[in-house]
Amino acid sequence: MFKKEKTILCIGAGYVGGPTMAVIADKCPEYKVIVADINQERIDGWNSETLPIYEPGLESVVKRARGKNLFFTSDVFAAIKEASIIFVSVNTPTKTFGEGAGKAANLQYWEATARSIVEHSEDDKIVIEKSTLPVRTAEAMHRILQSNDKGLNFDVISNPEFMAEGTAIDDLNTPDRVLIGAMEDESGQIALQRIVDLYSCWVPKERIKTTNVWSSELSKLVANAMLAQRISSINSISAICEKTDANIVDVSEAIGLDSRIGAKFLKAGVGFGGSCFQKDILNLTYLCEYYNLPEVAKYWESVVDINNYQESRFVKRMIRKMFNTVAGKKVTLFGFAFKADTGDTREAPAKYISKMLLEEHAQLAISDPEALENAAKDLDGIEGDYELIKCPYEAAKGAHAIAIITEWNEFKDYDYKKIFDSMEKPAFIFDGRNILDHKKLYEIGFNVYPLGQQALSHLE
Ligand code: UDX
Ligand code: ADP
Repeated sequence: MFKKEKTILCIGAGYVGGPTMAVIADKCPEYKVIVADINQERIDGWNSETLPIYEPGLESVVKRARGKNLFFTSDVFAAIKEASIIFVSVNTPTKTFGEGAGKAANLQYWEATARSIVEHSEDDKIVIEKSTLPVRTAEAMHRILQSNDKGLNFDVISNPEFMAEGTAIDDLNTPDRVLIGAMEDESGQIALQRIVDLYSCWVPKERIKTTNVWSSELSKLVANAMLAQRISSINSISAICEKTDANIVDVSEAIGLDSRIGAKFLKAGVGFGGSCFQKDILNLTYLCEYYNLPEVAKYWESVVDINNYQESRFVKRMIRKMFNTVAGKKVTLFGFAFKADTGDTREAPAKYISKMLLEEHAQLAISDPEALENAAKDLDGIEGDYELIKCPYEAAKGAHAIAIITEWNEFKDYDYKKIFDSMEKPAFIFDGRNILDHKKLYEIGFNVYPLGQQALSHLE
């Protein structure tokens, strides 16, 4: 039997809730961890042999804990009654309607969850924000939760998740830091200690940082905004490199050697994607506007502007180099996921690149090791000629061009001579991630267009 105070619930079994709770259960055997979601199909997936999300290392963690102290259920209400610590990890997409549309976070799922917690609780709870939320959401949630007429006390804690997809399990096992923000009253501080105790099962004390709720909420937005800003900065420089004799890979390496700058997150590419970066920056922008800080809002918004520019710049370069038209030409995309080692395609540059190429009447063939199911959903209803083909050799057959959109390692190991022989000539390759051996491709006969570097072309 698990003790009530060591029974944890996570509402929302998505990319964040699922892996995070699996690791907590794995590391803390004395805690019972329940993951609940209204989406029955997702829950069935978590309870099956084929998990609903692809994440390296996740399967073995889930299999170790599932049925012992890790449980997946769609009975959210019963789970609320049972748990004393509730993580909320429901989706907080960008609002598509009304005030703040296109920027502010849509909090309807969060608020619905808070109301369910109030309705179904029979004792005091700690409620933890895991999803990224606008600063001061905890305050609003605290009001909703405390306005119950059952005399119950709810402590709201902010504990943002910093793991990245593709490396989620490593990130969760050995986090750079765990951030926990609590209210400064006595009850808040007691709740804070209980969450510190939970993470102390496996995270060294010096990596557990405690703050007030507001700092914690803002830190999550700022961490993502700063990471995205580095990518937009280096991507903007890749445009200069293509106009000069500079090479973006050399520039990244050279500046990354400065210990003040550091080498990480300086890889130029087709643009950043994922469910967080754009959403969080727009959210930050909205906050700045709300607090009448238009200059600050404009600064952060430009990070997203450069990202959009990078995606369209990549396609425009393709069209220009392919004799100013791709109409009727087969173009093969290697990669659709927003990054390697995930099947996730949320805000993936591939989506925008595909749409642009289809508008130019290219015939698209898309190959990706894990993301074709999501790609099919993303492209559903979009006009144009496209096929999703798992086999890269099949996808490239008869193509005029290949574009590398995701940095999957296996793309490096394909037999490019075989691919070249099956393509239309002249054959083009646009390496949007700079992962291939460009000289070798050129020697095979390809016209090679790395990103942010001079072309290796037989035509120019
Ligand atoms: C991000 C944050 O890293 C993580 O801390 C937070 O919890 C969630 O958001 P994620 O979106 O999963 O994680 O992936 P990340 O590795 O940050 O990559 C985001 C995007 O940036 C990807 O499209 C990736 O391809 C791109 N990227 C990353 C680059 O283009 N260049 C780089 O150097 C690094
Ligand atoms: P993230 O990347 O933040 O984890 P996801 O969209 O992958 O986002 O997951 C969020 C999950 O939250 C979805 O599976 C969705 O069904 C679930 N969800 C949304 N609202 C509720 C709710 N009121 N109760 C339970 N689960 C919810």
